[in-house]
Order: sequence, then C-alpha cells, then structure tokens
Amino acid sequence: MRRMLAIAVCAGIVGLLAPLSTVGRTQQSTTTFKNIKVFDGLSDQQIDDAMMYMRASLGVQCEHCHDDKDWSLDTKEEKRTAREMIRMVRDLNRQLGDDLAVSCYTCHRGQSKPTTSVPLLTERPALAKTPVKPLPPSAGVASDAIVQRYLEASGGDAWSKLTTRVMKGRLVTSEPAVYPAEVSYKAPDKFHSRILVSGEPYRKGFDGTRGWNSDNRGSHDAQGGELERLRRQAAFALPVMLHTFYPALTVDGEAVIASEPAVVLSAPAKGGERDRLFFSTRSGLLLRIESATVSPLGMLPRRWDYEDYRRVNGVRLPFKFRETDADYTYLWEFTEVRHNLPLDETLFRR
Ligand code: HEC
Ligand code: HEC
Repeated sequence: MRRMLAIAVCAGIVGLLAPLSTVGRTQQSTTTFKNIKVFDGLSDQQIDDAMMYMRASLGVQCEHCHDDKDWSLDTKEEKRTAREMIRMVRDLNRQLGDDLAVSCYTCHRGQSKPTTSVPLLTERPALAKTPVKPLPPSAGVASDAIVQRYLEASGGDAWSKLTTRVMKGRLVTSEPAVYPAEVSYKAPDKFHSRILVSGEPYRKGFDGTRGWNSDNRGSHDAQGGELERLRRQAAFALPVMLHTFYPALTVDGEAVIASEPAVVLSAPAKGGERDRLFFSTRSGLLLRIESATVSPLGMLPRRWDYEDYRRVNGVRLPFKFRETDADYTYLWEFTEVRHNLPLDETLFRR
C-alpha cells in the first residue's frame, strides 16, 4: 500500500463530496488562490484539475506537497520541486511543439520516484480507455436505433407511471471503506444522496438547476464538471433523458466489457474529450460511460459502470453503479428500491 490509510480515508471523502477549490479555503469558491506562480492566468477549476492530475500521476495524497495548515505555503520541498517539474514539462513540450506531449505521468507512472527499470508484463498499468474496434458501415448500425432499443429494454412506457424512487444500500470505496447509503429521485431531474460517515450525514443534491453538497465542513454549490456530473446522476430515467445529455451521438465501434459484447456510441463533451457510451448487444442496456477532463497538465479519465440490472415496477435499474477515477472507485450497491413514495421538495434543495 502506497498510501497511509488514515489519510486516504479523509482525502477520499473530500474527493467524494467537495470540489477541490473549497479544500484549504472556507466556503464558496469566490476567493482566489494566494500563492500561484506557475499556474497564473488559469481558472480555479483548471488549477483544481491540475492538482488532481498531479496527485494521481505521483500516486500520493495532496499532503505530500502541501502543508495542511495552509495550502498556499511553500514549506514542503515536494511542492517547490513540483513547480520546477511543471516548468521542466513546459520546456519539454515547447521543444516538442505540443502542450500535452509529455507530463507528470509520462515519467512518474503513479510513483513519486520515477524508475528507469522496465516493469514485468503483469505489472503494466491498467488502460485508461476501453479498446474499441471500428465497425464497418456495412454492419448497418444506427445510433438512433441503439438509443431506442435502450429505452425499450429498460421499460419503455413503464417509466411514465413512476414519479419518485428511493434506493437503499451502501457505498463501497477503494479506500477501502463502506458507508450506509440512501438515494432519492423525483422525476424528471431531482436527486438527493446521503451516506453516513461515522453516523454523520454527508449529502449531495440537485434540485433541477442547482447542485450542492453538504458535509461536516459545511455546504456549498457544485460548479463546472462536478455540476455536470450531478446533473446526469440526477436523471430519474436516464434512458428517457439520454438525448438531453447527448443530442448528437454517433457510432464509434464495438467492444467487450466483462465478456459482454457492446456497441459504442460517442458524443462531444463540454470541456473534454468525447464521451463514449457502451450498450450491451445482448440486452440493449447501457453498460458503461467513459469521459475525460483535459487538465492543464494532462488528461483525467473517468468511468461509470452500470451493473446488475433488475426489474422493478416494470423498469430495469442497475442495482450497482460504479464510478472510477484516477485515484478512487466508488461503488453504490442497492438492496431495496421503492417507487412513488411521497417526497418533500425541500429534500432536494440546499
Ligand atoms: C506534486 C505536488 C502537488 C500535489 C500532489 C498537489 N499539489 Fe496543490 N499545489 C502544488 C503546487 C506546486 C502549487 C502552486 C502552483 C503555482 O505556483 O502556480 C499548488 C497549489 C495549490 C493550491 C493553491 C494554494 C494557494 O492559495 O496558493 C491549492 C488550493 C492546492 N494546491 C490544492 C491541492 C489539492 C486539493 C491537492 C490534492 C488533490 C493538491 N493540491 C495536490 C503542488 C501539489
Ligand atoms: C522527464 C521525466 C519527469 C517528468 C515529466 C516529471 N518528473 Fe518529477 N521527477 C522525475 C525524476 C527522475 C525525479 C526524481 C529526482 C530525484 O530522485 O532526485 C522526480 C521527482 C519529483 C518530485 C520529488 C520526489 C517526491 O518525493 O515527491 C516531485 C514532487 C515531482 N517529481 C513532481 C512532478 C510533477 C508534478 C510533474 C509534472 C508537472 C513531474 N514531476 C514530471 C522525473 C520527471
């Protein structure tokens, strides 16, 4: 284990609930950072993304470089070295004529001290993306038909009879840790999740417009990529809403996910690479979404897996929902699902 467990647990929960721009500062992200020397001119969001990228590239926690009393201090040598490394990477990329030709991960590969030794075959790192084979036009696959089949396979008209949903179960993270969890939805796009961390509620919500989260450090509105992700997670019926998130899907090819053949559709995404959606060729259901944020230092991939579909009140729902990023996995496992319970509007508001 590279990480110390205690630190991993606290950093993991921060990663889970708070956008990084609020870490080390109090409340709303309206303040600007105090000690920016190499990332001047970048937005808070871009700096957050660069921090996530460095943490994952070196396989460390934020505190490896930062003094947790004040994140702007330069007390740690690692932080000062990191600045030199950022300058070095920029020089290299200038010579190579490509902003993202080389970055921290190119050398570090998840370690703070890079090695010149070649790894054994079994130790090579996992792929950031699922390999996709192109489909010949003669295969005659149309993206509209794939999306329509997904809607029908998931229940079609049965969705219109449902108004709310409450799902109970647990959240299992890669820390490893397990938290009791409850997620509530109201059609079409209201969402509330609550996990219990040592008996204390950590909550997230989306009220149709605003996304927010609230924990022992206080509460704040979600912004940027985090808001976009909450908006999609808040979809009461993703098969019905899919076109609002992805109005221009095209066929990318075919792939295999856990021995299940899949058709792959893709669409341009806000501020990132194309998102890719994987649909089972057997069941027609959505198996996976992949996307990537382009941080100032390099690509940060993210993946959502929809697993263990079961039929409830005429619709098919994934009883497991797994989110994977460069540092963590978050697996939501549900054991109980109930529809059409009355839910108060205030539940979804901050
Ligand atoms: C490899 C070292 C390294 C890691 C890991 C790292 N940072 Fe940083 N961080 C820096 C450097 C260097 C700067 C200063 C950038 C500059 O000078 O433009 C910085 C600046 C910051 C600032 C701005 C502070 C201010 O007010 O000036 C914040 C906030 C921050 N980091 C948060 C984080 C968080 C949260 C994480 C974990 C996700 C993290 N950092 C991981 C090196 C690191
Ligand atoms: C060309 C390869 C290369 C690239 C690219 C690179 N590093 Fe390094 N880095 C090294 C090497 C080699 C060392 C070890 C130096 C030593 O042992 O004296 C190192 C050491 C470090 C250290 C100090 C070791 C420690 O304990 O943390 C930090 C921090 C660091 N790098 C951060 C970064 C960051 C952040 C980036 C991306 C902006 C980056 N490096 C990109 C090669 C690289």
